[in-house]
Amino acid sequence: MSKYTLYDYDSSKFPFKETVQNMMDVDQLDMIHEVFEFPEKLEIIKDQNTILHDKFYEEMKKAEFTALYKDFVSNFISDLEIFKNEKILYQTYPSFRIHQPNNIAVGQYHKDSDFGHNTHEMNFWLPFTNAWDTNAVWIGDPDSDDHECMEVDYGQVANFDGANSLHGNKDNLTGKSRLSIDFRIFPLKFYNQQEQEQTETLTQKKKFVIGEYWSEL
Ligand SMILES: [Fe+2]
Repeated sequence: MSKYTLYDYDSSKFPFKETVQNMMDVDQLDMIHEVFEFPEKLEIIKDQNTILHDKFYEEMKKAEFTALYKDFVSNFISDLEIFKNEKILYQTYPSFRIHQPNNIAVGQYHKDSDFGHNTHEMNFWLPFTNAWDTNAVWIGDPDSDDHECMEVDYGQVANFDGANSLHGNKDNLTGKSRLSIDFRIFPLKFYNQQEQEQTETLTQKKKFVIGEYWSEL
C-alpha cells in the first residue's frame, strides 16, 4: 500500500505555477538554479534561510498568493471526501521548499512530530514543478526497503502522514529544480488550546495556535 494519496486539481482554476513564476520573476521554475544557484549545501535550520526563500515569503504575504492559497484550501482541500463532516484548521502560511540540482531541500530525515507538531496533523505537498526520483520527497526509513518516492506531477497534491512517518530528500540528481509548498490540515476535534500553547515552530517560533500557525476557514 502506498504511503501517500494523490489528488488531481484543476491547475487552470488554481494556477500555482504561473503565480509563483511571477512572484519569483522567472519563466521556468525548474531552471531557477540558472538564475540563482545556492552557493552551498543547505542544512537544517539554515535550509529555510536563503534569498529565494526570503523572496517567496515576502511575495507570499501579498494578496495574489494569499487569495490563491486560501481559495485552494477552501474550495479544493476542504471539499475532499476525507474531510466530509469535518471542521478543519489550515496552516496559515504554507512552508516553501526549493530542491536545487546537487543539493537538498530539507536537511535530514525526520517526522514532523519531532519538531513539536501534533500527531493528528495531516500533511499536503504541492509541487509547482514535476517531482520525481531524487528531486521528490521520500517517505519511510531510507535504510530499509520501506522507502517510497512521492512522485507528484504539477496539477496534483499529495497527502501523507508527515507527523508520524519519516520523510526526507536526497541529493537532487535530476538536473531540475523542484519548488513546492507543503501545508498541514488539523481536524478541529483534536485541537486543545492549552496543549497547543506548549509548542512552537522550529524556525519562526510561532505558536501552534489559532491566529498564529493555524487559521480557521
Ligand atoms: Fe517534514
